[in-house]
Amino acid sequence: ISPDDLSGQRVLVTLGPTRERFDPVRFWSNPSTGRMGAALATAAWLRGAEVTVVAGPCSVALPPGVRRVDVQTALEMDSACRDLWPSMDVGCCTAAVADFRPIAFGDAKMKKDALGASGLVVSFDENPDILAGLGTLKRPDQRLIGFAAESHDLAANAQGKMQRKHLDMIVANLVNVPGSGFASGTNQVRVFDRCGGDESWPQLDKTEVAWRIWDHLAAI
Ligand code: C5P
Repeated sequence: ISPDDLSGQRVLVTLGPTRERFDPVRFWSNPSTGRMGAALATAAWLRGAEVTVVAGPCSVALPPGVRRVDVQTALEMDSACRDLWPSMDVGCCTAAVADFRPIAFGDAKMKKDALGASGLVVSFDENPDILAGLGTLKRPDQRLIGFAAESHDLAANAQGKMQRKHLDMIVANLVNVPGSGFASGTNQVRVFDRCGGDESWPQLDKTEVAWRIWDHLAAI
């Protein structure tokens, strides 16, 4: 039996990658599967929350009671989240948003035989930081959770992000650790919160990580 401790809470979860179009047949993206976000959304729903997921292109299954808004690009995800955020109590950004989008080649397919001697040169524009945007708009009654995948200086980088993006809690993991991060069923995380909390959790199934994240948010 699930606890009903999130009953009445409106929860927004972003998940999956974003897909940044270059031409009609090519895009820039990353291997995020959306599993951590789906585990969080499902756990929140089972605990009584009204859950809205803004999902980049991925094939995770969500309970039928979870509202799902599908988007492709970071700009679309940003706009959907900004529209939804004022009516939410909690935001949880797990999406692996592409930080940059290629300046689109155009409506026609780029042909390799049309390239000059310098080969293919692609320029990029910076995408908005969706989580930081929600942090800036956050009201005192709203709470915001972010994620951080780091390759080094995990504590300093994660705590820096928590401050900069006005988060209540950040869930950090080291990349390139087996059993953690992208496309893994498990995750090994260190959790920091705005009250100074710093906990290292063992390697756990993502479902278990999700349940502990909601427990932790309730405790701070
Ligand atoms: O700064 P960094 O990209 O490592 O931060 C990761 C956190 O910020 C994640 O919670 C991710 O969902 C969010 N993020 C975002 N929009 C971006 C980049 C990251 O919402 N453009």
